Amino acid sequence: MHKDVKKVLVSQEAIIARCEELGKQISDEYRKIESTPLLVALLKGSVPFLAELVKHIDLDIQFDFMDVSSYEGTESIGDIRVDKDLDCSVKGIDILLVEDIVDTGRTLLEVTKLLKNKGARDVKVVSLLDKPDRRVVDIKADYVGFEVPNEFVVGFGLDFDQKYRNLPYVGVLKDEVYQ
Ligand code: HPA
Ligand code: MG
Repeated sequence: MHKDVKKVLVSQEAIIARCEELGKQISDEYRKIESTPLLVALLKGSVPFLAELVKHIDLDIQFDFMDVSSYEGTESIGDIRVDKDLDCSVKGIDILLVEDIVDTGRTLLEVTKLLKNKGARDVKVVSLLDKPDRRVVDIKADYVGFEVPNEFVVGFGLDFDQKYRNLPYVGVLKDEVYQ
């Protein structure tokens, strides 16, 4: 275990096993409606989750990346700025947004609206983690890996100050790391 980590909340083995389950479920559900979704991963936190998840999706999917910043804490709550846009048009396409964590839900709601405004046929969400205690808008991921308590978590893509994204598990940092 990394020296800065106090406890592991979700082990690497559990994450891989859950990605296998989610991959099967996603494959079955999209196959049923004869659709192959475009997976849109939100940078940077969702990259390790995307990489694990796609290995278990048995459909001819494609994936692309978006980077957005939110203006949380300012007057213009709800607005987002697109720092990196998708390479292709989403008109008429079923999108599966890939997130590391659903927290307040604000960013996710705005990205969903944006993609629908751009003509996406459908937008669903798969998130590695869900922190429902933090939610401030009415949005729910369609597929969730694990529910986590209202604690700051790092690893498997999630950062503190851009660090710890490469940890192969999700954990909580020691208190002294924040000092
Ligand atoms: N950890 C890292 N990034 C986050 C978290 C968290 O718990 N919640 C929202 N972004
Ligand atoms: Mg972050």
